[in-house]
Amino acid sequence: MSQRLRKVVFPVAGLGTRFLPATKVVAKEMLPVLDRPLIQYAVDEAVDAGADTLIFVTNRYKHAIADYFDRAYELESKLAQSGKNDLLAMVQGTLPRHVRCVFVTQPEALGLGHAVLCAKPVVGDEPFGVVLPDDLIVNGPTGAGRPGALRQMAELAASENAGVIAVEEVPRDQTNKYGIVDATPVSERAAKIKLVVEKPKPEVAPSNLAIVGRYVLPGRIFELLEKTTPGAGGEIQLTDAIESLLSEQSVLAYRFEGTRFDCGNKLGLVKATLHMALEDPQLADATRKFMASLANR
Ligand code: G1P
Repeated sequence: MSQRLRKVVFPVAGLGTRFLPATKVVAKEMLPVLDRPLIQYAVDEAVDAGADTLIFVTNRYKHAIADYFDRAYELESKLAQSGKNDLLAMVQGTLPRHVRCVFVTQPEALGLGHAVLCAKPVVGDEPFGVVLPDDLIVNGPTGAGRPGALRQMAELAASENAGVIAVEEVPRDQTNKYGIVDATPVSERAAKIKLVVEKPKPEVAPSNLAIVGRYVLPGRIFELLEKTTPGAGGEIQLTDAIESLLSEQSVLAYRFEGTRFDCGNKLGLVKATLHMALEDPQLADATRKFMASLANR
């Protein structure tokens, strides 16, 4: 996969039941960490990795994501008239000009593998990224210029001509929440995957190295997804198609540089918010004081 990464898929058709009742009307990807929705962090990471085509696999209820990346003419002209140029730049800056968005509908919630397969007509036969916006990954303060996880992975995929999947260690008793890999180390951060299995029970998990929501995959994965039958949870699993890919191509598990927050649950979202507040020069001191005041509760 020496080709440059241009396309990134965002599976965003999930119902977000962990955040009900808010998610009755707010897409979970629109939940904010400070002032930016989760999807903005995910998109920024994809753009940082070189993507110019963003493919959102969505459902018929989720208009907010398309609206968010669209122009907001009325708001923009009001901000321009009142000279609020900083805010105007912020509103216009959700997406760089060279980047385009494509929206694809997943007609039925048949699993992550099925969601990714819905992007096939747009991706075609080239390497592409997958970013699950629930997994927020930060590598240093915003604007500090450190490469995001997906950029690190795209560079490795190009230099090694391999698929790359982000992994991190999780507590043994949580293997049943993740895809788990068995891999042989090839460098400090990368390991060649021998086996990958979706949500194994701790007793049978081959390791505690878990897939987190970043993938760089070859276009070939679509043909394998087409043949993939329902697996864990009765869903068509991306993990199962990757397992089939292993007999044809090298796929690396990559321990990215950065910190990951599982914003698919409430505690993860709280942690991400505190982390970002501590990295924000305007909020850091007050947040630190507040956290210290909580220490004795
Ligand atoms: C999905 C994948 C799983 C991966 C996880 C990372 O599971 O199927 O392999 O470990 O994302 O967040 P989900 O969280 O959608 O159940």
